[in-house]
Amino acid sequence: MRAWGASLVVVLAAGAASSGAEPQRARTAAERGREALLGQSFSPPMITHKAYANLWKVWELKEKPADFDRLVRERYGLHEAPYPNKGLPMGLREASALLLGKGIGVDCMLCHAGSIAGQSYVGLPNGSLDIQLLFDDFSAAQKMVSVPIPLSHVRGTHEAFAASAYLLQFRDADLNLRSPVKLSLPPNTCEDVPAWWLLKKKKTMYHTGGGSARSVRSMMSFMLSPLNSGDYIKSQEPTFKDIRSYFLTLQPPKYPFPIDEKKAAQGKEVFENTCARCHGTYGPDGSYPSKVLDLKTIGTDPTLASSDIRDFAEAYKNSWFGKEKDDEGKPIEGTLNAGYQAPPLDGVWATAPYFHNGSVPTVYHVLNSKTRPKIYTRSYKTGKDDYDPGKLGWKITVLERGPGAKAPALERRKVYDTTQPGRGNGGHPFGDKLSDQERLAVIEYLKTL
Ligand code: HEC
Ligand code: HEC
Repeated sequence: MRAWGASLVVVLAAGAASSGAEPQRARTAAERGREALLGQSFSPPMITHKAYANLWKVWELKEKPADFDRLVRERYGLHEAPYPNKGLPMGLREASALLLGKGIGVDCMLCHAGSIAGQSYVGLPNGSLDIQLLFDDFSAAQKMVSVPIPLSHVRGTHEAFAASAYLLQFRDADLNLRSPVKLSLPPNTCEDVPAWWLLKKKKTMYHTGGGSARSVRSMMSFMLSPLNSGDYIKSQEPTFKDIRSYFLTLQPPKYPFPIDEKKAAQGKEVFENTCARCHGTYGPDGSYPSKVLDLKTIGTDPTLASSDIRDFAEAYKNSWFGKEKDDEGKPIEGTLNAGYQAPPLDGVWATAPYFHNGSVPTVYHVLNSKTRPKIYTRSYKTGKDDYDPGKLGWKITVLERGPGAKAPALERRKVYDTTQPGRGNGGHPFGDKLSDQERLAVIEYLKTL
């Protein structure tokens, strides 16, 4: 009764607001996009509410733990939602489907929202996520078969290319479901998630710069679940245009610890002489070159950029995804690049680990290649205590050796072993010649971006 009474008050108040003298302002595309992104589900549920509430059985516990919600967040690397989400962490969402009824599914924020120093942000890459464990546990709880391809080899990274190619196999050029036509699935791409607030600066997106940053359709490949019809996917294009407009309004989180302004000013000078030609300049007159560096120049792990995805690219290009046009009717096209884009560094303090494969835990290690740890783990928590403000990134524990093939898979995914395929941490030697004093000054400057 009380709850009903309260909602009645809300309804009356809303009515009073809209019937006031001021006419209602039309919402901007970005406002509509935010509402759709945070309020709408674009994929069917994966698990019933009941199976979700019983996940602790999959964890082999004897009874439901009192702090179930916190344990869910910790086990899978999820974060509290700063928007209404029915008590679920960011990335999980109530959804419904014709046959399954209401249940819980995942959304874009699973990978694209995270927390740092106790604060959650939409658009902050989720470097804690164990997507493989989440999907495996959901399948077990729901008594369904697991996804047949690996989704991740190490926490926070994704086999995103292979997943897109895998799902595209089941679609004809018009996105109708069909029996699968085999496409090659590039293995071990270990893709880190880019921050959404950088999109507004980019001409090309994705780590290899393979997509036009204006493309709306390419963001929709996440909807290729076989339970979504082709017509439904295509009908959501205007909504995704709005979502893109929302991305263009996102700002990076501000550095929450003290900054030494004098040192930062020295660092700015070093940065502009050593780094700006690839990463751009910052502030009101800043400019960003949106450069893709060939593999030989950049020298970071070549696996992702040299994967043979020609048949996938061909199928993609010939499908609805490849037929995108801008408002003037000009085609929006992607390219295949054998290299990596030098990303803008706004808010870089918050987006560790670094490089396209998340192989380097701090900016200090990016700028001093000889000191990069070979095998390491971290807490995968994101509080102030887990953060290293000196090196700018996550605190780590260096390990002597990898966990070994016999360790449980979820423990293996907590170890970043740079000797494994796709996980090399070499290359980008551009900070090596700096003195440690210059390096620390550059780091101080990066805190201000
Ligand atoms: C399972 C994790 C995951 C989910 C869910 C996901 N993404 Fe991503 N997203 C990624 C990864 C990984 C990349 C980087 C891929 C690459 O460049 O190789 C990416 C890249 C992007 C980019 C390009 C960013 C840039 O600057 O290069 C955009 C935009 C984007 N995603 C939007 C979305 C939207 C919108 C959704 C929801 C419909 C979504 N993503 C769902 C993992 C995910
Ligand atoms: C010749 C071009 C070039 C120069 C010069 C350069 N970088 Fe980079 N930087 C890149 C590229 C390309 C990448 C992406 C590499 C990858 O993902 O594999 C990158 C990645 C990074 C990253 C990781 C970003 C992320 O989000 O993962 C940081 C931090 C960085 N650079 C800082 C610097 C600093 C500081 C300097 C100057 C000391 C510098 N870079 C000089 C090209 C350059």
